[in-house]
Amino acid sequence: MSITAKTKICMVIGDPVNHSLSPQLHNAGYKALGIDNEYIFVGCRVTSENLSDFMKGVRTMNIRGISCTIPHKISIMQYLEEIDDTAKKIGAVNTIVNESGKLKGYNTDWEGIVIPIEKITSLDGKTVALIGAGGAAHGAAFGVTQKGAKLQIYNRTPEKGLEITRQFGGESFGLDEIEKIKNADIIINVTSVGLSPNENETPLPKEYISANQVIFDIIYTPYETRLLKDAKEQGATIIHGTEMFLQQGIEQFKLYTEHDAPVDAMRQALLNTMN
Ligand code: ATR
Repeated sequence: MSITAKTKICMVIGDPVNHSLSPQLHNAGYKALGIDNEYIFVGCRVTSENLSDFMKGVRTMNIRGISCTIPHKISIMQYLEEIDDTAKKIGAVNTIVNESGKLKGYNTDWEGIVIPIEKITSLDGKTVALIGAGGAAHGAAFGVTQKGAKLQIYNRTPEKGLEITRQFGGESFGLDEIEKIKNADIIINVTSVGLSPNENETPLPKEYISANQVIFDIIYTPYETRLLKDAKEQGATIIHGTEMFLQQGIEQFKLYTEHDAPVDAMRQALLNTMN
């Protein structure tokens, strides 16, 4: 298929953005559905200082969809005409759809957390422990409490955890109390600890992980973090960060193209980038 003057542009913006796998993910989806003449997905480094000018460009060029990552998920909200209720509750936007010049913000990160877990187990009544209390933790806290889970947060800066539990319920602890995590059913790492090139680091001592737990790391570089390797050795069920990335992208794909995403083709494209 060929690109024409009618091809709609979607893009991921962030600073940095080079590491993003969103272009590979979305373009593989367009190709699998045979709509790669209608849509193209690219990346653009946008600094915080340039965000306002960039948003003017979105309107001028009629860019169809914007996926946004660090550091824009909160600051971009001021440029939008509308923000959907869930994104408002989470307090962050990772997806923007341009409907004839009207920009609407969504958050698909929370589905990236909830859907992979629900493929394995129900969240209702479970104790879910988040390690970390940054932007990603807000989406995770919204998602798991929405599905009936009890929330625990462990964070280096306990005040930030408290802020989240004040909004979504649950208990907040410092990392000095992390051994309490032994009682959690599901543990999600939403810190950057273990991210490449610090692959030897883990946010959780191995001895606190047991076989009846589900361990989900939202880091996907490396594909299998030390936390997930430790969890596997302890006999726990693991969920790779690629599943979170895939799922948030699938939800974006539907919003940008109004087509159901070809999940298998997109997962394969993502896994191909890991080798
Ligand atoms: P994101 O938007 O990806 O969640 P963030 O908002 O910068 O990123 O949050 C990063 C999280 O990782 C925070 O919870 C941070 O802890 P603090 O709130 O104390 O800053 C946590 N984090 C980052 N590096 C860490 C480290 N070396 N040890 C423990 N926690 C760390």
